[in-house]
Amino acid sequence: MSTWPGTLAPFLWGVASSSHQVEGHQPGNDWTRWEAAGKTAEPSGNRIDHWNHFREDVALYRDVGANASRISLEWSRLEPNPGTWDEAAFDHYAEMLDTSRDAGLEPLVTLSHFTLPLWVADAGGWLWSGMEDAFLRFVDRAVRRFSAVRLWCTINEPTVHPLMGYEEGVWPPGGRSIRVGLRVLDRELQIHRRAYRAIKALRPDALVGLAHHMVRFRPLLGTPAHQALARFLHRTFNAWAVEQCQGSQDYIGLNYYSCRWATWRRPLNPFSSRPGRPLTQMGWEVDPDGLYDLVGWAARRFALPILVTENGIATDDEEERSRYIAGHVDALRRAAQAGADVRGYFYWSGLDNFEWAEGYRPHFGLIAVGDDGARTVKAGAGQFLAETRTGFPTGPSPHLVPPPP
Ligand code: BGC
Repeated sequence: MSTWPGTLAPFLWGVASSSHQVEGHQPGNDWTRWEAAGKTAEPSGNRIDHWNHFREDVALYRDVGANASRISLEWSRLEPNPGTWDEAAFDHYAEMLDTSRDAGLEPLVTLSHFTLPLWVADAGGWLWSGMEDAFLRFVDRAVRRFSAVRLWCTINEPTVHPLMGYEEGVWPPGGRSIRVGLRVLDRELQIHRRAYRAIKALRPDALVGLAHHMVRFRPLLGTPAHQALARFLHRTFNAWAVEQCQGSQDYIGLNYYSCRWATWRRPLNPFSSRPGRPLTQMGWEVDPDGLYDLVGWAARRFALPILVTENGIATDDEEERSRYIAGHVDALRRAAQAGADVRGYFYWSGLDNFEWAEGYRPHFGLIAVGDDGARTVKAGAGQFLAETRTGFPTGPSPHLVPPPP
């Protein structure tokens, strides 16, 4: 039996984004400081300025066929200093959400997408003893103020954020310790569970989850040792975090981009591609079947509705973008026909945006943004529109997808 509410569209065709990557004007968070210290290819600045262009952007999202939009709230805007709430910023987000709903786009709202207010970061970020209470206060304010929002995502990619920021040192705060990274991951999941209960207490009919980054780990060689390594990586990187949230997620949110090749030459750092394969601007190999496998795994393991909260390609070749979208939506349709309760596909991203350490070079958007701020819908958006018109087989069937090899 599906738990997908009849009051929501049976299938969400969404575009996804996050506050820091598109809004501009972010003086008070840890990423702006990281950029100012020269740690990224370029600073984010106000290049996309979605904060002021949101009406135009929402209309374009609608034009490309979306009936949903994933955004995130910038905590540093809403609470620039501890206990000081910026009512004008709350009003601005309320206007953005109303504009989205009026255009027929269901909002899915993320509460934490990688950035932290400076006062939180300086107190110790996710490891600060006051973090849980501070985040819960922010969640409480946001859910009360934006009470019409039915789809909440507490934390974006709680495995990737500690990996990049606390283990590999390429995102703030620049830590390089696996032990600390694992503590941060544990903390994020713990705080998610509390946030889940808090949101449900305020709004029992809301659907609350996280966006989990998942990678299809494939064995580089067909040997049992390589297969075992690929299974181990799946268990530790994909499965563990989702399992820790059992009972505190109403949907499985899945961000999927690519596969990686498990090899004993680099057991914990698998290759993202095999020699000779075409790669995206991010250096990632394209593998739509990986999405089929992971959705199938999640459907069997959790029996919850599944939302692909992110999937997309960084490229300047619009035929390549079209093929990517067609291939991944096809994989998703196959998974649904095989029994997975798939309820949404959010393309990353609506707009070309700030891609963290890489700056503006990778182009994920369905819509380009020129130096003068002008928006241009790209040819690849036509494929997204075509998919939305073809529709999607919703509702679980009795047959469950076979396990991945
Ligand atoms: C993140 C996005 C990012 C995208 C493409 C995801 O891991 O949630 O913020 O832009 O991947 O790299």
